[in-house]
Amino acid sequence: ADRSLLILPGDGIGPEVMAEVRRVIDWFATHRGIGFDVSEDLVGGAAYDLHGKPLSDETMASAQEADAVLLGAVGGPKYDKLDFSVKPERGLLRLRKEMDLFANLRPAQCFEALADASSLKREVIAGLDIMIVRELTSGVYFGEPRGVTTGNDGQRVGVNTQRYTEAEIDRVVRAAFELARKRGGKLCSMEKANVMESGVLWREIATEVHADYPDVELSHMYADAGAMQLVRWPKQFDVIVTDNLFGDILSDIAAMLTGSLGMLPSASLGAPQANGRPKALYEPVHGSAPDIAGQGVANPIACILSFAMALRYSFDLGAEADQIEAAVQSVLADGLRTGDLMTVGGGRKVGTVEMGDAILK
Ligand code: NAI
Ligand code: MG
Repeated sequence: ADRSLLILPGDGIGPEVMAEVRRVIDWFATHRGIGFDVSEDLVGGAAYDLHGKPLSDETMASAQEADAVLLGAVGGPKYDKLDFSVKPERGLLRLRKEMDLFANLRPAQCFEALADASSLKREVIAGLDIMIVRELTSGVYFGEPRGVTTGNDGQRVGVNTQRYTEAEIDRVVRAAFELARKRGGKLCSMEKANVMESGVLWREIATEVHADYPDVELSHMYADAGAMQLVRWPKQFDVIVTDNLFGDILSDIAAMLTGSLGMLPSASLGAPQANGRPKALYEPVHGSAPDIAGQGVANPIACILSFAMALRYSFDLGAEADQIEAAVQSVLADGLRTGDLMTVGGGRKVGTVEMGDAILK
């Protein structure tokens, strides 16, 4: 097959939820003739146990060559006391950095059957389908100078610098326009151009890039107002693009509109490669959930939906991605619930494998 996939299950519930993804991958090969060259490797604590580091150079090289990387989760109490340089998270950070994954896609989609799980009213949330695109490799988390220093008056000063180049803004905004074009045709750019210079430039570049996407409707919003609007009436949005810091916060707000961590997929995309496919890493938003690891109760849906995003954004298999989402919709409508989804209205409690079975069926 002309589609390569590197699978990195990682730690905790990572391997449990990834096993269900493997079954979905096999299903597409058997029933649809859509095959993948799948290889599997270690990341996080699992890699540390074997190599003494959370991502080996060989695995890093495989990730650079694969069309898409699918990651489960990393970390766990066993590794909490390790030196920062070899912590499981560092494996993930290395992947993001060396693959230069500058666009982090976080969908917030409300499945009808879970509309009552949100703290918001059903009418506000039912049918919600928005996408937040967060810049992931620059901005205030990386800008120099940074550090805690002591000023002339003897006071300590904590410093971070928000810094964005034109090229950094251009590429992430362009990625968001491309997405909006394929979705609902609307893009809202969020910054604080009223008080931040980087925001002024951000707004300018977004407006310039818009010239290449006249079919997409562009609006601008201050990020604080955007936070309010996300909670007040989120369905007004289609795609939102924003910087690293605001995106961190806004995507967490959007995530909680829709309910459980066990439902949330994500993608991190970089520049298109020679074959036109972007560098890409897909992963559930949740972590390794050590409190439930090894019990067979984890919700595999976030990881399965992350694979659906890979189908859509790496392999141009949008109809197949739709099919996975419809299967998820359908099992939820049938009342199947993993433990994390049991908080509202009951339903039939199932484990990881049983949920996978139902989605396959
Ligand atoms: P977490 O996301 O692992 O768990 C938070 C809570 O949500 C737990 O009660 C957990 O049982 C539940 N939960 C998460 N995913 C679930 C699923 N699929 N099905 C059912 N319940 C689920 O976050 P936490 O507890 O803060 O971190 C645990 C470990 O994971 C830490 O070592 C942390 O560093 C790591 N982590 C890794 C991430 C990654 O690999 N991208 C992201 C976040 C945390
Ligand atoms: Mg966050």
